[in-house]
Amino acid sequence: MQYGSSGGGGGGDTSKTTKLERYNSYIRRVNSTKLLQASSKLLFRVTLLVALLLIFFFTLNYPPLSPSSSHAALHTSNSLLSSAFYGAGAVWEKQVRRSSTPRRPNGFSVLVTGAAGFVGSHCSLALKKRGDGVLGLDNFNSYYDPSLKRARQQLLQSHQVFIVEGDINDAELLHKLFDIVPFSHILHLAAQAGVRYAMQNPLSYVASNVAGFVSLLEVAKSADPQPAVVWASSSSVYGLNTQIPFSESDRTDRPASLYAATKKAGEAIAHTYNHIYGLSMTGLRFFTVYGPWGRPDMAYFFFTKDILHGKDINVYVTHEGDKEVARDFTYIDDIVRGCVGALDTAEKSTGSGGKKRAAAQLRVYNLGNTAPVTVGKLVGILESYLGVRAKKRVIKMPRNGDVPFTHANVSQAYRDFGYKPTTDLAAGLRKFVKWYVGYYGIESRAKKENHEQSADD
Ligand SMILES: NC(=O)c1ccc[n+]([C@@H]2O[C@H](COP(=O)([O-])OP(=O)(O)OC[C@H]3O[C@@H](n4cnc5c(N)ncnc54)[C@H](O)[C@@H]3O)[C@@H](O)[C@H]2O)c1
Repeated sequence: MQYGSSGGGGGGDTSKTTKLERYNSYIRRVNSTKLLQASSKLLFRVTLLVALLLIFFFTLNYPPLSPSSSHAALHTSNSLLSSAFYGAGAVWEKQVRRSSTPRRPNGFSVLVTGAAGFVGSHCSLALKKRGDGVLGLDNFNSYYDPSLKRARQQLLQSHQVFIVEGDINDAELLHKLFDIVPFSHILHLAAQAGVRYAMQNPLSYVASNVAGFVSLLEVAKSADPQPAVVWASSSSVYGLNTQIPFSESDRTDRPASLYAATKKAGEAIAHTYNHIYGLSMTGLRFFTVYGPWGRPDMAYFFFTKDILHGKDINVYVTHEGDKEVARDFTYIDDIVRGCVGALDTAEKSTGSGGKKRAAAQLRVYNLGNTAPVTVGKLVGILESYLGVRAKKRVIKMPRNGDVPFTHANVSQAYRDFGYKPTTDLAAGLRKFVKWYVGYYGIESRAKKENHEQSADD
């Protein structure tokens, strides 16, 4: 009963409580919906603001291109998207700009391809030191020990030269670099070098020396302004030529290796881009370059290593008459002076946006030492600096693309930009050995001698 009566007395209260609860829950629902609406509005506004800020930021970082170039315009929008791909966006771009800005009045802004390579690293430093802007480009491939390329990169970095890691076949990257920097010159040294390796990996020569060169020139020809191009050909284009010394007008249609054939193709390609698009083109035929920070695949370099390790070295003689093989060994500083001289005398390209306006400069020069030395003599000089006798094996030169003899006539380079080699093989190898023992941390008589020598200086 009690239970029943109390139940009957509280019926009105229960319905009031239920209504109150319903009302409260309604209020809660209304409040949470409002809160949700308010917060999503806020989120939308914040997103819009961030998007606008990003657009503003990127617009400031990407200067507009010439309206005449629709291709280039396409690349501007692409570059917005791909900026994050090639590096840390704005930071990367800042490094590109800073490195390529000249520090002297009327200084050049030079794109150096193959900048982590032997010749490229030396040229980049020389240009930077005199106040030019230099931007490097290199794919750091493993044809020879990439740690040597990284060490050169560090050296360049310490002189404010930035190397973009990329391939000359990457047209998008090249367009992006030209979008950022109006390069006045390209010093094109990136290539698959080496004569013997062409029998192992022939397609790497086609990829870098033919396709890569075309890819680079395609971008250069459509750039506005068009840069002047100075690039590395090779003495190997003389191939089976027997006219001595080798002159630029001699035959170059009998290459002895695929490497030589791709360099010869490069000369023909250079002619085409000069003829059709008005690109100023200068080809430099280097003769066996050697020196500090050199290439481990070259004889003077691996002879040094093998002599120090007590290993046999092969000294080649020719098939005809057992004459010793000889080379016009050219010291790196002389080559650098030749490259800089060629850049300084390169005329402007005449085209713009892919159209030729007038005839443009087209040149080719030998850069050699004009004094061939036999490989036997080279070994003798190394023996004396290293204080170790070489274990020589005199054998006939294998038929792998090497030629028996090179000798440069450099009178044209002398006439046009005062090129005059000044370092003989003995003086150059002394500097190379000093660098070698220092870089690889080798104690040798050569090191002691070099210390004594520098104390006397
Ligand atoms: N050193 C010589 O005796 C000699 C003689 C004649 C011609 N050359 C020419 O001079 C130039 C420089 O030679 P080097 O001795 O400094 O050689 P190197 O191999 O030290 O330098 C070439 C650089 O180019 C880079 N590279 C190669 N293919 C590339 C690609 N597709 N994209 C981007 N980077 C690439 C390599 O990583 C390397 O760092 C080359 O064109 C070479 O053929 C050299």
